[in-house]
Amino acid sequence: MNKKPLILGIETSCDETAASIISENERGIPIILSNIISSQTEVHKEFGGVVPELAARSHLEKIDWIVQKALDESGKKIDDIDAVAATAGPGLVVCLSVGLSFGKTFANLIKKPFIAVNHLEGHALSPRINSELNYPYLFLLISGGHSQFLNVKGLGNYKRLGTTIDDALGEAFDKTAKLLGIEFPGGPKIEVFADRGNPEKYELPKPIINQNNLKEKIFVVAGGVAANKKIRSMLINLCKEKNYESIFPPIELCGDNAAMIGMAGLEKFKLNQFNDFDYPAKPRWPLDEKANFLKGAGVKL
Ligand code: KG4
Ligand code: ZN
Repeated sequence: MNKKPLILGIETSCDETAASIISENERGIPIILSNIISSQTEVHKEFGGVVPELAARSHLEKIDWIVQKALDESGKKIDDIDAVAATAGPGLVVCLSVGLSFGKTFANLIKKPFIAVNHLEGHALSPRINSELNYPYLFLLISGGHSQFLNVKGLGNYKRLGTTIDDALGEAFDKTAKLLGIEFPGGPKIEVFADRGNPEKYELPKPIINQNNLKEKIFVVAGGVAANKKIRSMLINLCKEKNYESIFPPIELCGDNAAMIGMAGLEKFKLNQFNDFDYPAKPRWPLDEKANFLKGAGVKL
């Protein structure tokens, strides 16, 4: 039997330090052998948001033992790893640089290929872990930095269908929480309060409701906000109504993690898509590079 590829994934784009070992089962389905995440909530709590320099320092302090823990929990040895995949963007450049440099150095040391991964591609591919989900599919990315609707045609082949020109959904949750004096990170706490609210209180505008030229059958939702159970159930009901199959990653793979980075790395590894050690950290890196950059007047960059 051929050896199944073993990929080390590393994620440090914002305030989670994460490492994961990913492989495949006999049927070629991607599987997680370990998935270690260390969140920095305590570091940033008193500032009400992520402080880039503190985040980067915290990544530096933890990255080596997080990778060690991912290896230990997977039951594999360093020599078993076939490639190292690390997030190269988008994100906070000081944070990205930690995982990216660590990943490159690690790959160089073990003389294995290095793979630079787009964090958004990780979210887009996360529902393919432990699943037989095939391309193409419609994809709604709802995270702290993005609210985008895309057509995922294949690995590296994404067409943006729509995007917010205002704050991303997760950011809106976090800002609302801050205004209301709710402790950082606010998104999950607002979910709890919202459960006691009145959903009929405000009538909100509905964008692109008349556009119905989408051909895929499958509708995939991922990103940190996809962990919100109310949003999940509303989207599941909408899909039933419109005859779409809805797919969400498990809650623990919605927020930032390294399994999704290893997953993108695994797919790139199988296509020999490797990167040089001078690959830069990219604070801005859209999934659809041809789509125009759109931002509303009220959004500060
Ligand atoms: O995907 P993610 O972990 O990081 C980015 O790539 O941005 O998403 C983080 C965002 C934060 O804004 C957080 O408040 C939001 O996801 N979030 C939630 C929930 N859990 C996380 N928003 C609403 N409800 C939740 N349960
Ligand atoms: Zn993310």
